[in-house]
Amino acid sequence: MKSMKYSVIKQLGMWLFALASVLPALATGVIVPGAEWLDNDGMFINAHGGGVLYHEGVYYWYGEAKGDYTYRSPGVGWDCYRTDAGGVACYSSRDLCNWKYEGIVLEPDTLHTFSDIHPTMVIERPKVIYNATTHQFVMWMHIDNHNYEKAVAGVAVCDTPNGKFRFIESGRPNGQMSRDMTLFKDDDQKAYLFYSSENNTTIHIAMLSDDYRHVTSNYTRQFIGESREAPAVFKRGGKYYIITSGCTGWDPNEAEWAVADNVMGPYTTMGNPCQGLHADKTFYSQSTFVIPIEGTDKYIMMFDRWNKKDLITSRYVWLPIHFDGDTMTIPWLDSWAL
Ligand code: GAL
Repeated sequence: MKSMKYSVIKQLGMWLFALASVLPALATGVIVPGAEWLDNDGMFINAHGGGVLYHEGVYYWYGEAKGDYTYRSPGVGWDCYRTDAGGVACYSSRDLCNWKYEGIVLEPDTLHTFSDIHPTMVIERPKVIYNATTHQFVMWMHIDNHNYEKAVAGVAVCDTPNGKFRFIESGRPNGQMSRDMTLFKDDDQKAYLFYSSENNTTIHIAMLSDDYRHVTSNYTRQFIGESREAPAVFKRGGKYYIITSGCTGWDPNEAEWAVADNVMGPYTTMGNPCQGLHADKTFYSQSTFVIPIEGTDKYIMMFDRWNKKDLITSRYVWLPIHFDGDTMTIPWLDSWAL
């Protein structure tokens, strides 16, 4: 009898342990960087290279919906692993831990072979900002063809954060290449597109038009010839911070942070913000976005831990950013509470 009770308790313990290891975000608000992350329906979150928008009490997480099957792009010499473009997925949350699947908000266009958002194309790093004048949610993303030679930025709009976005167009901002990108909206409502340009050697920062649908001719070149990508940008205490990765495809490398007094630069490079085991490889992940937690002076660094041979199983590494004055660090944590 005693041993039966013991075995039941042991079984229960094992189940709880197994459950805890696949649930990075429990109702208690605990995040386990790099663990499998399930949505409120118990499905794996599929929102890679993503960004988060806060709107009216709700956080919306937009990201690349990777397809089930990863393959090497035919005829491409480098390590070009990819899946068919599955569009942009959206999840919503009030606590940044428990996420409800809102669906694919930008559907791939399966009907038109030459569409920018046909599944044979690349749709990466979607970011959404809200335009308070037009009352539209504006999404920008990296659009490419199967060998990443097209190098354009795409734009889509929607009247609601979780409705179906309408793809408008893609293009090279001011005639310049655009791959990894992010958006940043400043306190004065002006918004900016940050993108890896000049064949990924130099970051460009372009001011957007007032409706956020176009880039203006007002742009600067930063990190010239330094080959940085995966930009994530935020503002704190009147200063602008950017975190980038080096350019080694899906493979991890060392992150770098930089700071500026003006959103368009010049940025001063400060070094690697990551600390702890595998900090020189960004904890085997790559930057995508920084979430300012509404109503606080706290910021979450979002990284992707890519699994290049099975991209859909890539994990999310979310860590709090630590500040000492104006100096930021991102120490590794096995788990942490919001
Ligand atoms: C990385 C980039 C990813 C993806 C990948 C393709 O450098 O950050 O977003 O484009 O290359 O190999």
